[in-house]
Amino acid sequence: MQIQFQTAGPVAGAPLSAIAVLVFEGPVLSAAAEALDAETGGAVSRALAGRFKGAKGQAVELVAPANLHAAQLLLIGAGPKDAFNAQGAEAAGAEAYKALKNSGSTVLDLRFDLGPDLLAQAAFGVRLAAYRFDKYLTREKPEKKPSIQTTIVAAEDPDAVIAAFEPLAGLAEGIAFTRDLVSEPANILYPVEFAQRVKALERLGLVVEILDEPAMAKLGMGALLGVGQGSVRESQLVVIQWTGAADHATQPVAFVGKGVCFDTGGISIKGAEGMEDMKWDMGGAGAVAGLMYALAARKAKVNAIGILSLVENMPDGNAQRPGDIVTSMSGQTIEVINTDAEGRLVLADALWYCQDRFKPKFMVDLATLTGAIIIALGNDYAGLFSNNDELSANLLAAGATEGENLWRMPLPPQYDKMLDSMGADMKNIGGRAGGSITAALFIQKFVNGLPWAHLDIASTAWMKPSSRAVIPDGASGFGVRLLNRLVADSYED
Ligand code: BES
Ligand code: MN
Ligand code: ZN
Repeated sequence: MQIQFQTAGPVAGAPLSAIAVLVFEGPVLSAAAEALDAETGGAVSRALAGRFKGAKGQAVELVAPANLHAAQLLLIGAGPKDAFNAQGAEAAGAEAYKALKNSGSTVLDLRFDLGPDLLAQAAFGVRLAAYRFDKYLTREKPEKKPSIQTTIVAAEDPDAVIAAFEPLAGLAEGIAFTRDLVSEPANILYPVEFAQRVKALERLGLVVEILDEPAMAKLGMGALLGVGQGSVRESQLVVIQWTGAADHATQPVAFVGKGVCFDTGGISIKGAEGMEDMKWDMGGAGAVAGLMYALAARKAKVNAIGILSLVENMPDGNAQRPGDIVTSMSGQTIEVINTDAEGRLVLADALWYCQDRFKPKFMVDLATLTGAIIIALGNDYAGLFSNNDELSANLLAAGATEGENLWRMPLPPQYDKMLDSMGADMKNIGGRAGGSITAALFIQKFVNGLPWAHLDIASTAWMKPSSRAVIPDGASGFGVRLLNRLVADSYED
């Protein structure tokens, strides 16, 4: 789908079009809605006689109103006018697209009469809502495919909107990159393939290094390698660097992602039901890759590191066994009680490597780490665990701005003993109680005291069903917006 910015007016060539306008709560017609009301001899006013009063989430579709050169006219509730903001504009754009995508019209004509920044945000909402992973649908009937080919954003000053949209377009591409990775099945996207797709991002100015199994063995990454040893797919550690700060020597910020391309559980194998979901157990690494894409695409003035630990967790004659003891790069030994608690094992070596090599300002890891976080928070919050209040505050604020909610969870030292092992420095599970917390406490042992935050995104990486138009069902891309905002608001030159 194409997005164009131009002054309002009839669409050239007169294709079948659908117009969307805002109605604020009251109802209070926007200027564009007033104009259309006049043009149609009061069709909009008549539509307001029912329950539609412009509240957020409400919408009314008028089909072929008389005297209007459009096939549909959608009225979108925008809530109280004085509270309308970027999030509202984005949601309205997304809802317009979602409501009209299968209408038969080929053009979505957004008449939002807002300032350039809000119009750009509305276009961003359309872009995110129009994401679709349809590459394997070979027999889809044309009438099932979205009919909207073009979105026209009506603007008084199109150039100003184009300029405001540019960084958002880069962000949207980063999010789509993440969604594609997360949506791919594990027979297509295994560690080497994932690494190669990231390598191709060097075209954006990123520097991408790939460490193979011999390189990781040399570094002593026994925890990560143990997880991948039952798979015929080779494990990969990907190091992505973006150097955008004026001073190339400025201490970087760092992001580390769990990239389990498929998680069967290993020898501690999972049940059959829902196991297909474990193709998206690389959602943390997917988000870090999409974030690095977005930072490069919008030329962020920051030095940033992205590290992806890519493995496949399989049962096999060569797989690691419950009771095995592995030695991590940090030198700490781990008794692997449950091979299904593999995410923390791959993060342990990736985080240690990251702090050891780059000495970053802070590290944020993202991981679809525990089913327990879904039980605790439901699907509208990811869990935040951190040893640093300032970093936590910045993350919480960034999440609130971007509609990617975090909830801070505790890291109680008195729970640490749940990880005690008789035969090694620690074991890899703590028990059922506080499962997300003991997982985070485990990871904390590998950050060497650096400011660090862990985002458990098992609850938010995949949305089915999704409750918001900006996130179509499936891969959400959670984390990309949040961390892009964190960098933009707190860590750029
Ligand atoms: N990848 C899973 C966690 C997960 C569950 C992600 C559901 C997304 C949706 C993780 O590797 C796992 O298996 N965790 C176990 C930990 C347990 C063995 C301590 C879990 O949550 O059951
Ligand atoms: Mn697992
Ligand atoms: Zn997992």
